[in-house]
Amino acid sequence: MDSTYNLNGGFKPTLKRFADLEGPDFFPTPDWATHALIDNEAFEGSIWEPACGDGAMARVLATTGCPVVATDLFDRRYGEAGVDFLQTSRNVDNIVTNPPYNAAEGFVRAGIAQSRHKLALLLRLAFLEGANRQRTIFAMVPPARVWVFSERITFYPAGAIRQGSGTTAYAWFVWDKDSSATTELKWFPPGYKSRYPETNQAGTKYPMLFK
Ligand SMILES: C[S@@+](CC[C@H](N)C(=O)[O-])C[C@H]1O[C@@H](n2cnc3c(N)ncnc32)[C@H](O)[C@@H]1O
Repeated sequence: MDSTYNLNGGFKPTLKRFADLEGPDFFPTPDWATHALIDNEAFEGSIWEPACGDGAMARVLATTGCPVVATDLFDRRYGEAGVDFLQTSRNVDNIVTNPPYNAAEGFVRAGIAQSRHKLALLLRLAFLEGANRQRTIFAMVPPARVWVFSERITFYPAGAIRQGSGTTAYAWFVWDKDSSATTELKWFPPGYKSRYPETNQAGTKYPMLFK
């Protein structure tokens, strides 16, 4: 548990991503949210998805043409299971993932240590806040770019009926070792959600019960 994820060690805001019955924090990322990243950030070399879940993000990353390696701590029937990203010491070109909610800072640290070029993490926009993070991540290793979504991402546990819409704001945080510029704040234009409709693993569109 990463207690510093809470603002100044205070109470957590209401959790909008509710408990996962299959293990810690398993929420597949809707395709369109990954497309928004790869349509705006170029990747060269390989990409490691180190918390791959059922491969929702890894499959979209593969459309870049970059070789994608997918691992997860748990066996979710995709990629290599039993790999704890917080304990590995690899040296890869790029790392892209939606990390578990309670270990976001650990994923930043491990990702910066193990990537040669880009580390892209899908995090709550509120990750920008907090005294601890200001003193550590943002003072010492700030991201090169933060891409704010103009449309809300709705996360569902795998297999759940898609109903309702998200209430939490997310952004892609991109650390880029080939850039020395200060953090740039950018916005995705709306339209990704309708351009890349959600599919299940068989490639069939989910019933769109939400906007
Ligand atoms: C929010 S889900 C995201 C899944 C996938 N990245 C996606 O975007 O569709 C977080 C994933 O992190 C995995 N996980 C949790 N702790 C981990 C760790 N220490 N190392 C690697 N994977 C971990 C969980 O099993 C889960 O599949």
